[in-house]
Amino acid sequence: MRQAPFHRHDKLAFAKAVLNSASNLRFGPEVGVGTIRRDAPVLKSWLDEVKAMAADIRTVSSSGDVPAKVFHADARSVTHLLAPASVDAVITSPPYPNEKDYTRTTRLESVLLGFIRTREDLRALKQNLVRSNTRSIYKKDDDDLWVADHKEIQAIAERFESRRIELGKTSGFERLYARVTKLYFGGMARHLADMRLVLRPGAHLAYVVGDQASYLRVMIRTGEILADIAKSLGCELESIDLFRTRLSTATREQLREEVVALRWPG
Ligand SMILES: C[S@@+](CC[C@H](N)C(=O)[O-])C[C@H]1O[C@@H](n2cnc3c(N)ncnc32)[C@H](O)[C@@H]1O
Repeated sequence: MRQAPFHRHDKLAFAKAVLNSASNLRFGPEVGVGTIRRDAPVLKSWLDEVKAMAADIRTVSSSGDVPAKVFHADARSVTHLLAPASVDAVITSPPYPNEKDYTRTTRLESVLLGFIRTREDLRALKQNLVRSNTRSIYKKDDDDLWVADHKEIQAIAERFESRRIELGKTSGFERLYARVTKLYFGGMARHLADMRLVLRPGAHLAYVVGDQASYLRVMIRTGEILADIAKSLGCELESIDLFRTRLSTATREQLREEVVALRWPG
């Protein structure tokens, strides 16, 4: 079939329009089914998305051409993609250990855009992600080895176990909280360790992460722990800046969302 020159942009606009204006999904922030629509303006919302894209491109058209490359890859393993000492800056909002399954919130567009066709595709996608929820961890996962000697992470894992036993919680998910927390920080350690080989000396890194208390109300100071791991891998901590706070429904405490700013000295 002959394809229009911008058919991939058109398809992207279609996925967004279907999701936001024509689907029955609701985000709050977890994905669920909302009011069932009898009809929806599919063509208009698709065209609106196409126009928004065109307007965005027009806004930046006065700037020079800046080449960009997107890698559909796992950030814990980058050395086969990026040249040694070639990266000057990293800015990212990685997952937090907050039980969120990103493949679930993006399932509809992943299917519509052809990223997932089978259960195996979904599993492969999940396996390329930093572990941040109990529904996406696997027997063979061993990122936890990276933080086996980290006292605070091990203490949090122990707190989960004692709190779980104290509260008489016995579900499979609750038993996995300690493991997913260790796998999460281990995955982030693996990412930072791999990045060291591709960072240029003097490179700056910024990670936006949030504290968590949603697992059995055990407090996880994500930013502080991440900064500590980064330091142990040779990064310099420049600052941990408060970005915003949000109220924890579990503990009624204000949880910090922070930017962990690092420098790679080389
Ligand atoms: C907190 S969200 C950030 C979302 C992003 N700022 C946005 O607006 O779409 C974390 C994202 O990291 C992605 N992610 C998780 N593990 C990853 C990995 N190993 N490599 C690359 N991306 C990953 C998740 O799929 C998710 O989209």
